[in-house]
Amino acid sequence: MELNEINAVKNILGLHLPTDPRWVDLAAISLEDILTDHAYCEQKAATTCISLIQKHNDKTLLVKELAPLVTEEWGHFRLVLQELQKRGLSLGRQRKDEYVNQLLAFQRKGGNPEERFLDQLLTMAMIEARSCERFKRLSEGLNDEYLRRFYRRFMESEAGHYVLFIQLAEHYIDAEKVRKRWAEWLVEEARIMNTLQIRGDRIH
Ligand SMILES: [Fe+2]
Ligand SMILES: [Fe+2]
Repeated sequence: MELNEINAVKNILGLHLPTDPRWVDLAAISLEDILTDHAYCEQKAATTCISLIQKHNDKTLLVKELAPLVTEEWGHFRLVLQELQKRGLSLGRQRKDEYVNQLLAFQRKGGNPEERFLDQLLTMAMIEARSCERFKRLSEGLNDEYLRRFYRRFMESEAGHYVLFIQLAEHYIDAEKVRKRWAEWLVEEARIMNTLQIRGDRIH
């Protein structure tokens, strides 16, 4: 990877650790597993948005912004499902999501409701940002031209989602607090990425 490309990823997404370049090659040979894992990522994005709406029904802007996001993420799920079906593959089983589970463990669970709310939004921002970076890798590194374009569309969508979750956080919570906590999330996410094995059958 070129140095300026690493900086671009850092600047756009704030991620501290770019994906190991070997990951795309591994993903290319486990395409069925990648598509299945990706399908469930989209499904979880949709269901998490629904649960945020249910938990924070009093927050008008959040409800307004996340309602269409549910439709969009569910649309993504259907697009990936279509790809599986086109290839004569079935959806397959949902696997344990090590990455997301480790992020969830970093959320502050007790105490201050504002801090809990902030962490819920930043968890989503984090997953969107890393997914965007992974889709970028796929959109640049896969040999199949059709799949490169397929993943480029996802990359663009998820970049917008990452920004939306940060903006929602800043709407409800002091921007300085958001910035400080986001910096902690970025450090923790890089630590988590370093503990995970590079696997071609997982988006994260
Ligand atoms: Fe999505
Ligand atoms: Fe998304």
